[in-house]
This record gives sequence, structure tokens and C-alpha cells, in this order.
Amino acid sequence: MAKREQWGSRAGFILAAIGSAIGLGNIWRFPYTVAKNGGGAFLIAYFIALITAGIPLLILEFGLGHKMRTSAPGIFGRLNTKWQKLGWWQTLIAFAITIYYIAVVGWALRYVIFAFNLSWGSDTASFFNESFLQITSSPFDFGGIRIDALITLFIIWAINYVVLAFGIKGGIEKANKIFMPILLISVVIITVRGLTFEGAAMGLDYLFKPDFSKILDGRVWVAAYGQIFYSLSICFGIMLAYSSYLPKKSDIVNNAFITAFGNCSFSLLSGICVFSILGNMAFNSGKKVAEVAEVGVGLAFKVFPNAINGLPSFNKAFGVLFFLSLFFAGISSSMSIIETTVSAITDKFGIKRIKSLSIICGIGFLFSTIYATGVGLYVLDIVDHFLNNYGVAVAGLIETILIGWFFNLKSIREYVNPISDFSIGNWWELCIKIITPLILGIMIIIKVTEDLRKPYGNYSIQALLIYGVGVIVFTIIVGFVISSFKGSNSFEESMKKGVRNNEF
Ligand code: ALA
Repeated sequence: MAKREQWGSRAGFILAAIGSAIGLGNIWRFPYTVAKNGGGAFLIAYFIALITAGIPLLILEFGLGHKMRTSAPGIFGRLNTKWQKLGWWQTLIAFAITIYYIAVVGWALRYVIFAFNLSWGSDTASFFNESFLQITSSPFDFGGIRIDALITLFIIWAINYVVLAFGIKGGIEKANKIFMPILLISVVIITVRGLTFEGAAMGLDYLFKPDFSKILDGRVWVAAYGQIFYSLSICFGIMLAYSSYLPKKSDIVNNAFITAFGNCSFSLLSGICVFSILGNMAFNSGKKVAEVAEVGVGLAFKVFPNAINGLPSFNKAFGVLFFLSLFFAGISSSMSIIETTVSAITDKFGIKRIKSLSIICGIGFLFSTIYATGVGLYVLDIVDHFLNNYGVAVAGLIETILIGWFFNLKSIREYVNPISDFSIGNWWELCIKIITPLILGIMIIIKVTEDLRKPYGNYSIQALLIYGVGVIVFTIIVGFVISSFKGSNSFEESMKKGVRNNEF
């Protein structure tokens, strides 16, 4: 068996893990989630979610990947042969997420180009819906494939393909060493400039002013935990795959803390950046920030271009830097999501990495053509909702129950402590065993109840069943089918050997 590739340095691994965590979720999702869920009050829930679920799960996944040196299916399969399916389900969820994620990264790239001459014009919403996406009137009216969108999708898949083809150290690590500093510098520049605009304080006031009545609302907590899971790339196989390339002598606990705090600080920075600009926009139009802010992709692609139009100076440069940041944040995360699937296929079937990479990117590109049609935005919205609320959350719930209750969790703690810069105590076991599964369980119940009461996004039941439930069923079936295939000899042997007495 070929020797497993490794990260070139600790900093390289941390940068890649932070690169995976920092993504569209930080710049596009975080700001509107905070604003919608009680501002400063949400931040309290967010911080608690970080400490009780984000960091503990990151430690767990880094520890599992480091010890097992294989991707999600192999890791869960070695813990217990029957659990291989969970690994495949997580991998398939990651694959389905990749497909729409790539589409949004493509939009960011197109918007970098539009920003050079503000070609979105004054009616930015119509530009996005009608000229750019050419959205049709229903989720089943495809309206043909747009060639420009198809070429953009191809370019984004190709960039990922080339980076991943160079491997872990030569590809992913190197790319993150270039992309991450560019991203940080761009966001710092636009934030510092943004804070000087008139009305910025109003935007920040809206973002951070705590609405304590919301802290008792279960949905705020659901949003906080959901944001932490999505943002830290946990429970969809990504961090398992990345940490499987760690050298033997590696810290686990501190790396998890650095990754988590690095990611969340960046989220706060993005929130400040986005809302100082929205504050300026509200100031210019004489409206309230709440009236100009929008939930969902509309915030980045409809509201933000409008805000950029109204900036007092350098608006083109500002627009270019903003969408460039979105692009770099997105591409570094998309690499990690694709790597999850590539490593899973390579590890199981013992085929060459380039072969699995070609298969994944080829199939992925074909599936992603749906986002080049007039139903793209509808499908993306539905798929994103279902994959995150019923895919990642349910897979995370199963992961924590299996490992917390049917595996010797203490042995994992005893494994990570001696190799780490500092140790974790009983609190960690409490979080994995009780707090995280409990919260995930409540989260799923709240979401199901909400969705049953009122169809998500007012879509037709048919659309929700086909695109939403359909994608979940698809990931389960394909995951189960792949897990039933015979793997390479070394994979099957390692499954048989497994771990003894349910402990590390
Ligand atoms: N963690 C990635 C993001 O936040 C998936 O976008």
C-alpha cells in the first residue's frame, strides 16, 4: 500500500483546516444569521455552541482522523464494521453539498468581473434574478442551460481539480498558503474602509445590539448550533479526512482550538464588514438597516452590490475585493469538501488518487449543470436547507451517539491528551456524550415541526419532496450501496482488524 501523504507542516495543516472552515458560511451566512436571530443575543448562543459542540467535535474528528489515518468510511468502519455506512453517508452529504457550493463560488467569481464596471446596474435584484440567473417561474421549469454559467462551473471544478491533483502538501497546503493571506488582507482592507462610511455605526448597532427576548427562543439556539456545524465543517467527513494526513507526532487539542477560534474571529470580522456597508446603505436611503438587509443568498448578490453602488468612493475596487474574498473563502472550502469524497474512494478501492479525483470531478460537474438552468436558485435553496438540517445534523447526531455511547470515549481522550499541547478533561466527554446529541436532537425536532407546519420557503410539496427529501434519500441509498461493495484487500483487512474492545 502506498504511504499516506502528509501535511508539510503544522502551520500548513492549521491553515488548510481554517481554510476549510472559513467559507461562504462566514461571509454569506453568518452576518444575516446573527442579524436575524437577535444580534448580540445570538452571539451568546453562538459562543456557547462553539464551546459545547464546535470545539469538542473538532477535537473528536481530529483525533479520529489522526489515529485511524483514513477517511470517514474507513474510520467508522474500523470502529465497528456496521458503522461504515455512516461514513459513506457523511461522504455523500459532502458530495451533494459540493455540487451547490461550487455553483455559489462560481457566482462570486462572476461578480468579481461584474464589479470592475458595476455591470449589475442600479436594479441589482433584477440583475441577479433575471439577467444573471434567468430564474424561471417554477422549480420545474428548467428553461435551458446557460452557456456562461456552464463555463463558470467548469472553471471552478477545474481549479479544484488542478489543486487537488497536486496532492495534500503540494496542492491543498500550498493553495491555502496563498489563498488565506489574500483573503484576510482583502477583508481587513474593506472592513477598515467600511467602518469609515457614514451610517456604519448604525449597521453595527443592528448587528450587535442584543435582543435578549430572543435568547429564550429555541430557534435562535438551533440557528447558532447549525451555524457552528456548517462553519467548522464538522460532521460531514471533511475534518476526518484532513486530519488523516497529519504526521504521527501532531498536536490535536490546540489545533482544534486554533482552528475554531480562527474561524469564529473571521466570522465576526465579516459580520462587521458586511454590516458597516449595509449601515451606509441604510443611511443613504433613509431606511432602517432591517429594511435593507436580506436573508439568504440575496444578501451577498442583491443587497451588497446595491450597497457598493452607493459608496462614496472607490466602489469598484471595493466590489472587486469583496467578491474576491467570497471567491477565495469559497474555493478553499470547496477543495476540502471534494477531498472528503476523493479520499474516501481512494482509501476504499485502493485506486490512484488522480483516478478518484477525475471520477468525482466528472460526475460532480455533470450534476452541477442543474445550477446552470433556470431552476438553479430554487434547487440550491431547497437542497441547502435539507442537507444541513436533515443531513449534517442527523449524521452528526448518529456520530455522537455511536461514539459517545457505544464506544469507549475515554480512550479517545486518553489518546489525544498526551500528544497535545494541553489536555482536555471530563467536560469534553460530557459535551460529546450528552450536550451535543441532546441539542442536535432538539434541533432536528424543531426543524421537522417547523417544516411540517409550513412548507419550507413556501415551495410546493412536490418540489420539497423531489429536491429536498430526494437528495437526502439519494445520499443514503448511494452511501449504503457503496459501503456494500468490496473494497481493496488492505481496506477490508483493516476493517476486519478494527479496534479491540471498542477502544482506541
Ligand atoms: N465551512 C464551510 C463554510 O463555512 C463549509 O462555508
